[in-house]
This record gives sequence, structure tokens and C-alpha cells, in this order.
Amino acid sequence: MQLPRNTQIMHLSIVLLSLTTSFRPRIKNPAQLDAALSFLTNTGPESLDIGKFEEACGVGVVVSIEEIQSTVAEVLKENMEAILEQRYHINVGGLCGQVRKRHPWGDAKATKEEIEKKLAEILGPKTEADNVKPVKKKKEKPAKVEEKKVAVATAAPPSEEELNPYTIFPQPAENNKVHTEIFFSNGNIWRAHNTKEILEKHLKATGGKVMTRFPPEPNGYLHIGHAKAMFIDFGLAKERNGHCYLRFDDTNPEAEKKEYIDHIQEIVKWMGWEPYKVTYTSDYFQDLYEHAVELIRKGLAYVDHQTAEQIKEYREKKMDSPWRDRPIEESLQLFEDMRRGLIAEGAATLRMKQDMQNDNKNMSDLIAYRIKFTPHPHAGDKWCIYPSYDYAHCMVDSLENITHSLCTLEFDIRRPSYYWLLVALGLYQPYVWEYSRLNISHTMMSKRKLNRLVTEKWVDGWDDPRLLTLAGLRRRGVSATAINSFIRGIGITRSDNSLIRVDRLEYHIREELNKTASRTMVVLHPLKVVITNLEDGKVIDLDGKKWPDAPADEASSYYKVPFSKTVYIEKTDFRVKDSKDYYGLAPGKSALLRYAFPIKCTEVIYGDNPDDIVEIRAEYDPSKTSKPKGVLHWVAEPAPGVEPLKVEIRLFEKLFLSENPAELKDWLGDINPHSKEVVKGAYAVPSLATAVLGDKFQFERLGYFAVDTDSTPEKLVLNRTVTLRDSYGKAGPK
Ligand SMILES: *[C@@H]1O[C@H](CO)[C@@H](O)[C@H](O)[C@H]1NC(C)=O
Ligand SMILES: *[C@@H]1O[C@H](CO)[C@@H](O)[C@H](O)[C@H]1NC(C)=O
Ligand SMILES: *[C@@H]1O[C@H](CO)[C@@H](O)[C@H](O)[C@H]1NC(C)=O
Ligand SMILES: *[C@@H]1O[C@H](CO)[C@@H](O)[C@H](O)[C@H]1NC(C)=O
Ligand SMILES: *[C@@H]1O[C@H](CO)[C@@H](O)[C@H](O)[C@H]1NC(C)=O
Repeated sequence: MQLPRNTQIMHLSIVLLSLTTSFRPRIKNPAQLDAALSFLTNTGPESLDIGKFEEACGVGVVVSIEEIQSTVAEVLKENMEAILEQRYHINVGGLCGQVRKRHPWGDAKATKEEIEKKLAEILGPKTEADNVKPVKKKKEKPAKVEEKKVAVATAAPPSEEELNPYTIFPQPAENNKVHTEIFFSNGNIWRAHNTKEILEKHLKATGGKVMTRFPPEPNGYLHIGHAKAMFIDFGLAKERNGHCYLRFDDTNPEAEKKEYIDHIQEIVKWMGWEPYKVTYTSDYFQDLYEHAVELIRKGLAYVDHQTAEQIKEYREKKMDSPWRDRPIEESLQLFEDMRRGLIAEGAATLRMKQDMQNDNKNMSDLIAYRIKFTPHPHAGDKWCIYPSYDYAHCMVDSLENITHSLCTLEFDIRRPSYYWLLVALGLYQPYVWEYSRLNISHTMMSKRKLNRLVTEKWVDGWDDPRLLTLAGLRRRGVSATAINSFIRGIGITRSDNSLIRVDRLEYHIREELNKTASRTMVVLHPLKVVITNLEDGKVIDLDGKKWPDAPADEASSYYKVPFSKTVYIEKTDFRVKDSKDYYGLAPGKSALLRYAFPIKCTEVIYGDNPDDIVEIRAEYDPSKTSKPKGVLHWVAEPAPGVEPLKVEIRLFEKLFLSENPAELKDWLGDINPHSKEVVKGAYAVPSLATAVLGDKFQFERLGYFAVDTDSTPEKLVLNRTVTLRDSYGKAGPK
């Protein structure tokens, strides 16, 4: 009901008067007052239903700080990807809004403070980049690329596409009317255009199934960028109940090694993917050769004698090679001579007769074959002419009846040539689509640069845990599940080619390890603490919790933690100078030993110089009546005079100091000199002695660790997978 304005104001003043008396104490905050006024503006006093009124403006609703905290935690978790990506540029107002939606009557100020506090815990101190004002991203020009379907896919989450990132891809039977089109300067549109007959034949051969391929070149180890390619290629096939080939793109006999082929097969499996078949481009050398002869016969390829420099110069000047129009018979004969090894390396190539006038240099008569007197690791010494990538890739896609040929965006410039060749030979044309490649901060993804890091021994091999190679991640203790969920979180698009912060990967690693790694205690840099009020020789057996949510009544939820007169804490958890915001141990100050007792520092024993603290004396509180704020991890002598279990721990930091080392000329100079630290004399609780290779743990307050292959029965070695960043601040001293 809408009352006349005058009546409204009158009623409002009457009601406001009563508000000051009866309701006011129960209206707790500005949000409730606003709601009250809005309710009353539309209601006359005669119809005022007190119950409804109270409900509408949340009278009497008190939102506790705990409720706000827990909702803030929920909202932050839901937005974690964006938070890690945008860091302090994240829209805090937007986050507050999401919390307020769930608690309309919560205190806005407290909400904002809680969000800011948590962000600081998650993100750590502000970096320089955090203080730089973000440049507004220019809208991407839709000029050359028309991607209607994809535009929908990148709209606000959570969309269907996010739950199923593969919905952007067409069905195989639609392979003629796909909306993905690339326009080139000459007005050509390049996309699949199969004749009805070819498409029907193709569908018959595949049964209408989605067929994809993952086509690595076996010239190095796979990295996290390949995890994205696998997620797209194998993932799409799996999602649609189709097949994905693992195809070794081995056209270059010089770069390829058996070691890489074996590694790739093994790591694909580890990532959870099952190839339909393992094939090699070299399996098709005969077909490729026959098609080349056919191409010459059609007048669409010619044998050329230009040098690499001449080819380059002529391309720039849009000039034809003097051999471009030689007779077909001559090219056929010369190609045959090339095949038989009668022509020297570099003296002739086979070139496709494409379009020298095209502005796209990848249409300027690309090389199809070159001579190389190098035996092939897979095909043997049968051939001395080898096809180029541009010639072989599209053709093998077609021969394998690939329905979706998916690759990274650098290849979109090659799409015209891809289709040109298939059209020239009247072969089936797959649907081609390019996605943005994965760039991650503080690392290097170029295979060439990775190769240098390895061969020049800047790192300890292709599987060094500091590299984002899949083998390195695995050695570090990262699971395939965490890698795949990271990739899924990024999604499949053409548009977003920003640098993804490595923190986002670490977030997914933590999320998974939090569920799979059991907790335990290790002290990296031990400081001796003697408990003066505990009897000599006494050992109290305590239980440590392996999982925060594990059932309390099951023995398997616990591990044994002995407490005795000599305890070790982390050196960094003691300070001579106390301060208000410090929760560790200091002279006269108390801290709680996790799963045990509060201890209070009573004396500090110095060595020869005043910086050298050799021992702390403390008293424990067996009644546990004191409630210190700080909680410390610790390890005690398991029996009087017996040294705790000694373990070796390796800690890793980011391999590069800069966010985007790929941009730097001297990228090797950007290597973080502290990217690896070996801690030899760490102490562990006794239960860790039974740990074996493959075991993963959460060391309380230190991070997630994996047992290393270097371990022996005498010496256990563990590598840190990732720190606990977000919970460190909560659990103990800053
Ligand atoms: C691909 O399809 C064609 C029919 O178009 C068929 O003859 C051929 O055997 C198929 N190849 C493979 C590898 O499935
Ligand atoms: C084709 O494009 C790539 C960039 O993707 C470029 O590096 C290459 O030189 C081009 N090829 C020719 C023949 O210009
Ligand atoms: C542990 O770190 C060492 C030293 O960097 C490395 O050689 C080894 O491969 C790592 N092991 C695992 C399992 O990550
Ligand atoms: C991502 O990598 C590609 C290829 O190396 C590069 O061209 C591009 O500039 C990179 N993007 C960013 C944001 O670093
Ligand atoms: C780990 O999981 C528990 C619940 O099992 C949760 O309370 C805790 O916040 C998680 N910790 C991190 C660092 O995600």
C-alpha cells in the first residue's frame, strides 16, 4: 500500500517517536535503521504488524563476531582464485557485499575489518606490484576473431561452462557449421568446410565419436603448460566418451630422444590420462610422401633451391622464387632424387605453392620437405627427406580422423596453411580451435630455456622440484589431482592470456594436501628447552592428532608424542625482547606446546657471546590453567638423554625472483640464489621413523612435506612441497 506523501511523513514521525522509546535499543546498527525506515515509509501505523516489522528490519537479530568470521571465511574461500590472482587489488567492497547477503544485519565495519585481516594472512605483506594502481584492461578488439560461443563461456561464474569447461566445443557432426572463424587481411575465412560425402565417410569411420590428439614433440620433459593441453585434449575426449591419441610429433630427427618418449608416456599416465593409441607422426611418413607427390602432380608444390636467407628475403618482398613455376615433371623428378639421397642437404626443398602475396607469412609457400641425412630414432634410416611441422601436422590430424584439433594461440596464424593443404588434397578437415597458453609467474616455460637450465646445471635435472615440469612437481610431492584442479580453475578460453600467479597453483596443492597429508611435528632449527619442574627421567606419553576432523575415539587418528625434560622448539619461536604482537616464547612469557602443556620461560643460558643462546629454562604448567595465546610445535627427547629422530629437510622457494623472468634479457641472472635450502639437523617426533617413500605429511606450522628418494633407513629426507601460508599466522607467533 502506498500512502499519500503527507500521511506518510506524519506516520513516519509518529513511528520514529516510538522507535526512540521501544524499538530503538533493539535496532543495533545503521543497516537495521535503514530497513526500519524503508518498512515504515510504506506502512501506516494502523496496519503496523510488529512481528513483520521486526522481521523486516532484523530487530533483535544479533550477528556474533564468530558468525561474521565464519561467513567471511566461506566467502573468501569461494573467491580464492580471484583473491590469489588479483591480490590486494581485489574489490573488498564486493566481498563485504557477499558477506552481507548472508548476514544482512551483521556489523559492516567488523565485516570489512575481518576481511582485511584475513586477506593479509592469505597474501602476506604487500609487494611492490600490490601498490601499483592497476591499469584498466582495454577491451579486447573483436576485430579478427569472432567467438560468440566463447564470449558466453567467459561470462560471470559459476556458469555451466565452469562446471563443464568443454561445452564450448561443437559435436563432430557439426563440423561444417562451426562459428569459430578467423578473418585474414585478404578477406578469407578459415574454418572447416567438409563436403557432405567426406563428412559422412568420416563419421562412419569414427562412429561419430569425438577424436582428439595430444601431440608433444619428444624433445624435452613436459611442463605444466602441457598439463593444460592434456586437460583439454584428453579431457574433452573423456567428457564426450571419445578417444584421444598420444601422438609423438617426431618430424625432426635431431632433437628427439628415447628418454623423452619414455618419460612422456609415463607422465601422461601419471596425470590420469589414458591414450586411445600411441602413434608417431613418423608412422605416416609413407602416406605423407605419397600425398606430397600428389600435390606436385596437381601443380601445388615445387622443388626449390633458394637458401634460407633468399627465402626470407623473397617472402618479405612478396616475390616468387625463380623455381616456383618450373614444370611439374621436373619437380617430380627432383623430389624423387631428394628421396633417393641424390641431392645434398640444403640444396633443395619441397615448397607448397600457397600465396606469396598474402600478408600472413605463414602462407608464403611454406616448406613441406627438407633433406636431412640423419637416421630417425623411430623410423630408422629409411628416409633422408623429412616433412615439416606445417606439412605433417594437419595431414596426420586428418589421417587419424581427429575431430577437434586444439592448440595454443601462437598457432592461429598457421590455421590458413593448415586448411590450405587439406583443401588442396581434398582431405577431411578437422575443427581447429586455439586456446590461450598458460603463463605462470616466477617460472620459465619455454622448452629451450628449460633445456638450458638443465644442461647448464642451474637446477638438478628435468625433475628438479623447483621447476614446473610435471616430473618436478611430482618429485616435490604434488599430485596430479591438484594440478588438474588448478587447470580446471583457470578454464579454457582464447581470450585471457594473463600471467597466472604461481600462488594459485599452490592454493590447489594445499587444498588437496590438507585432505590427504597427515599432521606431525618436526623442528627445523632446534633450540633446547629444559623443563626444570619435570622430574629427571620422566616421559609423559601424549597423543598428537593426525587429522583435525578425525574421530576422537579411534586410535588411528593419533600419533605418539613423548614429552620429557628436554624439549626442542624452533629457534625463531624464541625472542629475548618481547612485544605485544608476539606470541612466541620470551623471558617471563608463556606459550603452549601443541598437544601438551603451557611452558613459561624462566631463564636464558648464553654461550660465549651474547647472541649465542644455547638453552632455555622453562617451567611447565601440568594443570594447564594458564592459557597462553601462542601455540608452538616441538619435539622432545623420547627417553632421557636420547637424541630425537634426526631428519634432513629441503626447503624450496620460487626459482626466479621476478614475476615474469621470460621478459628479461638476463633471465639466468634472475635465478633466486636461495631457491633451495638443505636443513640437515632437524628433529622429528619418533613416529616419523616409519615414513616411507610416497608418504606426505603436514608438519605443523611449517608446511607440507614429501619423503624424498634420497632417504635411507638411517637417514630420512623430506622435501617441502608447499608452505602453509594461510594457517601459519593463526597457529603461532608472527
Ligand atoms: C579415418 O577415416 C577414413 C574414412 O574417412 C578411414 O578410411 C580410415 O581408416 C580412418 N583412419 C583411422 C586411423 O581411423
Ligand atoms: C609463422 O608464424 C610464426 C609465428 O607463429 C613465425 O615464428 C614464423 O616465422 C612464421 N613462418 C614464416 C614462414 O614466416
Ligand atoms: C628433494 O630435493 C632434492 C634436492 O633438491 C632433489 O634432488 C630431489 O629430487 C627432491 N625429491 C623429491 C621427492 O622431491
Ligand atoms: C605468455 O607467453 C607468451 C608466449 O611466450 C607471450 O607471448 C606472452 O606475452 C605471455 N604473456 C604474459 C602475460 O606474460
Ligand atoms: C584444512 O582442513 C580443515 C578441515 O579439515 C580446515 O578446518 C582448515 O582450515 C584447512 N586448512 C587449510 C590451510 O586449508
